[in-house]
Amino acid sequence: MEFITKSKDETIALAKRLGHFLKAGDFLALKGDLAGGKTTFTKGLGLALDIHEVINSPTFNILKIYHGKIDLYHIDAYRLENNDYDLGFEDLMDEGLTVCEWPEYFLAYLPENYLTVEFTYLDENTRRLTFKAKGKHYEEILKEFKDADAMS
Ligand SMILES: Nc1ncnc2c1ncn2[C@@H]1O[C@H](COP(=O)(O)OP(=O)(O)OP(=O)(O)O)[C@@H](O)[C@H]1O
Ligand SMILES: [Mg+2]
Repeated sequence: MEFITKSKDETIALAKRLGHFLKAGDFLALKGDLAGGKTTFTKGLGLALDIHEVINSPTFNILKIYHGKIDLYHIDAYRLENNDYDLGFEDLMDEGLTVCEWPEYFLAYLPENYLTVEFTYLDENTRRLTFKAKGKHYEEILKEFKDADAMS
């Protein structure tokens, strides 16, 4: 499933639409280019979860927790390059939506199934977002999302 967005607001709106289909315990892997829009996308997910705090890049924190209708665990694994960091929050993951930027540096903690969004920088204001489901649960989420999208 592929989308082209032509502004950051379009990326936020797309994420917000997807966010309505996500539940506590879900895991999203946001991959791809620097400045691809991963953090921007997370802001849109926050809107769907009724999070009123500003969501920023957690680069210096690795993990930030936001409270909303569902809690959001926002991870930026960019600094975990060696993959051997113990965040000690695995027990929490069932209780909120986990969104991980740079999942390639978080391999040790990736659940068996998750939804990947891959960001490709096309030009200054244009990005391609590719959604890929791993596992039946996420295939169903994408299907619901697609059906709802077709009706709107
Ligand atoms: N279509 C678009 N979608 C998303 N962001 C866009 C778009 N067009 C322009 N932008 C700009 O691109 C930048 C995306 O930055 P953002 O922090 O979301 O990227 P990122 O993928 O999280 O980067 P990093 O890898 O450094 O964490 C923002 O400055 C945003 O305003
Ligand atoms: Mg980012």
